[in-house]
Amino acid sequence: MPDNTRRARDELFWKTFADRYSNEPGPINLENGYFGRMSRTVVEEYQRNIELINRSNSVHVRQRFEQGESLEIRAQLAELIGVRAQAIALTRNATDSLQSLIRNYNRLQPGDQVLICDLEYDTVKGAMRWLARYRGVEVIEIDHQHPASFDSLLASYREAFARYPRLKLMALTHVTHRTGLVMPVQAIAAAAREHGIDVILDGAHALGQMEFNLQELGIAFAGYNLHKWIGAPLTLGFMYIAPERLADIDPDMGEIHFPLNDIRARTPYSTPNIPALLTLPQVFEEHLAMGGSAAKGARLNYLRNEWVRAARNLPGIEVMTPDDPRLYCGITSLRFTRHEDQQVMVDRLLNEYNLFTLVRSGAASGPCIRITPGLTTTAGDIALLIKALDQLR
Ligand SMILES: Cc1ncc(COP(=O)(O)O)c(C=O)c1O
Repeated sequence: MPDNTRRARDELFWKTFADRYSNEPGPINLENGYFGRMSRTVVEEYQRNIELINRSNSVHVRQRFEQGESLEIRAQLAELIGVRAQAIALTRNATDSLQSLIRNYNRLQPGDQVLICDLEYDTVKGAMRWLARYRGVEVIEIDHQHPASFDSLLASYREAFARYPRLKLMALTHVTHRTGLVMPVQAIAAAAREHGIDVILDGAHALGQMEFNLQELGIAFAGYNLHKWIGAPLTLGFMYIAPERLADIDPDMGEIHFPLNDIRARTPYSTPNIPALLTLPQVFEEHLAMGGSAAKGARLNYLRNEWVRAARNLPGIEVMTPDDPRLYCGITSLRFTRHEDQQVMVDRLLNEYNLFTLVRSGAASGPCIRITPGLTTTAGDIALLIKALDQLR
């Protein structure tokens, strides 16, 4: 058994790991998809950096951060995801990164078509619809078949590519926030390339819980945040543009602080959360020391599989996310099929079992309840979820 798989089920290891995090007493959190906790040592480093920047103010920032530390942090981030530093620009979150890419993509002509699906994040859908209003393009929206399979997902894109010959650009979500479905990014991007369609990848949920290589995936444009599974302070993200495609994204709103051939001109120039950025080296060190995305992903998948295996045998519970290992991660959604209102069931999970979950609507397959274990979730928490599902169904 590979090390990460063995370790994923080692409750003692994860109990010791969880002890590095402070945890407010209250409901058992099965909604860890919103953002991740920072470890206590990251919080301490962040506080030290807040105090440092507050004391030293612009002297430190102008003398040391702008030309030194920020470049080093960017290089470390690039190394973490296996790309060159010139391909990365720091941003405030995934939305900023993705909206800048969509807004500034300069290869669209009036009459072209752009593609989104029912599983995209709403701020991405909004930006693609904005293109229709301001660039005169047509937005094509497709719904994915449910239950989805690797082949059905690929087929729905192939069908759209064939049916809409004026498609030039599409959004693609690596891990959808609605059901946790992992898209076959490499296969879809390859099919898109055959039709000359560019892909902007929303990687918000993938970073830190999945291993991937953007070059192997065939992705030239992507947006990320750092606050979900990497464990960084809130307010940080980054944009990726393959260096050979930089000219296809215009400087953001006429940005002039960096030369045209610098990716940093593709993001809004503003004063960032410098203490948070200065905390990143500690974040990366801890992420890598515990085994990185492979170790985190293995644990989250293990917890997910524990409850999904039980729930598949419970009439009255539908697990919305497939069991093909290529198509799931730690996040998975379910639905109580005998109950109309999923919010009522979320309330009952909380009030009767102390389990904190979330309704997600917007998928063509209908509203569902998203279950997202975190790195401090225990096997006992999952056993309680299984009991609750069985009793409430
Ligand atoms: C799939 C997906 N895309 C984009 C975002 C937006 O991320 P941010 O809050 O960093 O802008 C989220 C946030 O949860 C998400 O789940």
